Amino acid sequence: MRFRNKRALVTGGASGIGRAVVERFVAEGAAVALSDLDGEAARALVEELRARGAQVTAVIGDVSELHDAERMVAEAVAFLGGLDILINNAGIETIGSVTTARDEEWERQIAVNLNGVYRMSRFAIPEIIRAGGGAIVNIASVGGLVAVREFSAYGASKAAVIQLTRSMAADYAEHGIRVNCICPGPVDTPLLERACRRVSGDKSPEQIRRMYADFTLLKRIARPEEIASCVAFLASEEASYVTGAVLVVDGGFTAQ
Ligand SMILES: NC(=O)c1ccc[n+]([C@@H]2O[C@H](COP(=O)([O-])OP(=O)(O)OC[C@H]3O[C@@H](n4cnc5c(N)ncnc54)[C@H](O)[C@@H]3O)[C@@H](O)[C@H]2O)c1
Repeated sequence: MRFRNKRALVTGGASGIGRAVVERFVAEGAAVALSDLDGEAARALVEELRARGAQVTAVIGDVSELHDAERMVAEAVAFLGGLDILINNAGIETIGSVTTARDEEWERQIAVNLNGVYRMSRFAIPEIIRAGGGAIVNIASVGGLVAVREFSAYGASKAAVIQLTRSMAADYAEHGIRVNCICPGPVDTPLLERACRRVSGDKSPEQIRRMYADFTLLKRIARPEEIASCVAFLASEEASYVTGAVLVVDGGFTAQ
């Protein structure tokens, strides 16, 4: 129960890694607001968690839109009574090189994966300062550390999130806010499924999935819970001396 009396906002909390983070926080005693663009999925998860006794709500909107970000943070704070933890997890994938991905795809990729982190942080940080400090965890990717074919826009957005993490850590340390990021390797979520279907070439989605698994030393795709446990560590007091760090959780993808 590391998060008893803690109040967390998790973006992209209705699916995949975000959902696993929400479940982990709830299991360890946190009150949680989950932000998502998919209102139906978010509300269904809230209903399920409330039935189990969780203190949880959904705030619906687009993290990349300034006014949505401001409203979602305000709604989360109104429900939670303050804010201690922000997990910037919402993200999308663009498949393609700089010549094959469309211009709108590039714009949307940067808007959600990078601007979304900036906008949600911008409104959440004053609340975390008001609470006396806390923690932010950004979900980047190994795609922000090494080149993965057909992930150029995605990789650029995630490399920027890694650097934004360090800048935020520097700017808010004096306010008692630790800011870290996680770089997952391939994780078994709807995002990965979509990516496997869309990567070009003559391989089937199953073969692409196997190829990603084989990129790792552990020769398998991660379960979302395996990322959530690391998010929980960085958000908890157990990581009290960790800030500005990039925690690679990739089964050895980038070790070789
Ligand atoms: N799955 C992987 O292999 C993998 C690997 C490395 C990093 N990541 C990162 O982990 C994070 C979570 O990905 P996932 O695999 O769980 O994906 P997912 O598609 O399963 O879930 C993402 C969630 O974010 C929500 N979302 C998307 N755009 C949004 C927006 N503009 N505003 C609010 N919510 C929005 C979606 O509705 C969805 O519920 C992303 O940042 C992704 O880039 C994933």
